[in-house]
Amino acid sequence: MSELSVDHLLGIKYLKRDDIELIFQTADHFKEVINRPIKKVPSLRDITIANLFFENSTRTKLSFELAEKRLSADVINFSASQSSVKKGETLIDTVNNILSMKVDMVVMRHPNPGSCVFLANHVDAHIINAGDGAHEHPTQALLDTYSIRERLGQVKGKKVAIVGDILHSRVALSNIFALQLLGADVKVCGPLSLIPKHIEQLGIEIETDLRKALEWCDVANMLRVQNERMAVSYFPTTREYTQQYGVNKQLLEDIGKDITIMHPGPINRGVEITSDVADSDQAIILNQVENGVAIRMAVIYLLASKIKK
Ligand code: CP
Repeated sequence: MSELSVDHLLGIKYLKRDDIELIFQTADHFKEVINRPIKKVPSLRDITIANLFFENSTRTKLSFELAEKRLSADVINFSASQSSVKKGETLIDTVNNILSMKVDMVVMRHPNPGSCVFLANHVDAHIINAGDGAHEHPTQALLDTYSIRERLGQVKGKKVAIVGDILHSRVALSNIFALQLLGADVKVCGPLSLIPKHIEQLGIEIETDLRKALEWCDVANMLRVQNERMAVSYFPTTREYTQQYGVNKQLLEDIGKDITIMHPGPINRGVEITSDVADSDQAIILNQVENGVAIRMAVIYLLASKIKK
């Protein structure tokens, strides 16, 4: 396979296993590039990319911008809070105005689930989903599974527990799809109030006991409780949540197993993960961030190769 089966990256659910393998192979090459003294290639000198962020971001926004610049693309950044969206302009009008400035590709983060699919159906550009509400965050799942492959040699056959606020997490859904495509076994773990109804229909198991989930898994992906998406509290207190679903060094030592610890960020230190775990050799949290640049370079490069000039 030499090109992606899709024209946009809207979600992992639209990808085939071969797409992910192609993205990983391409990312392997770009990872080598970004570790050179000159971390840049001229591949996309004729491409212009707009980064549209309607929701806050540190890692994803900077990682996309760096990936674009390392591919030598021209880059424009749009922040909703400083734009004419505040004056009532629609999403389609906003994007069509940006595209009329000869932009080829749009990276968008938006609080509304499905917004990237909607945009792809209404504008003439390649769209990359940088996180749409609680729906999908495909490049996060790609960099997460790439990081598991890097640490453990392969994803196939590995047991991965996704722990925490599954209900509000786009990272969880995209990871479930990517891990299943690559042949991993997946369980979700958290209080039932934070686990979507009918999630078992995706072919995964629910475990409400963190110790049992950790005893089972090779990899634990610890998710943040997304208080900003909650109108009411989903558990009694943060202290009680941490007692039941926070990972700490003592718990890992008691279990006595070599578990790879992941976190997509931002971390709430002392809530879902303690600093002695987050900063330990067991954790690959900063490797995930590093790999995000190579993965995003790969996705952008592969989608740009489908642009008809
Ligand atoms: N992992 C992630 O999406 O982080 P940001 O919200 O900082 O982009």
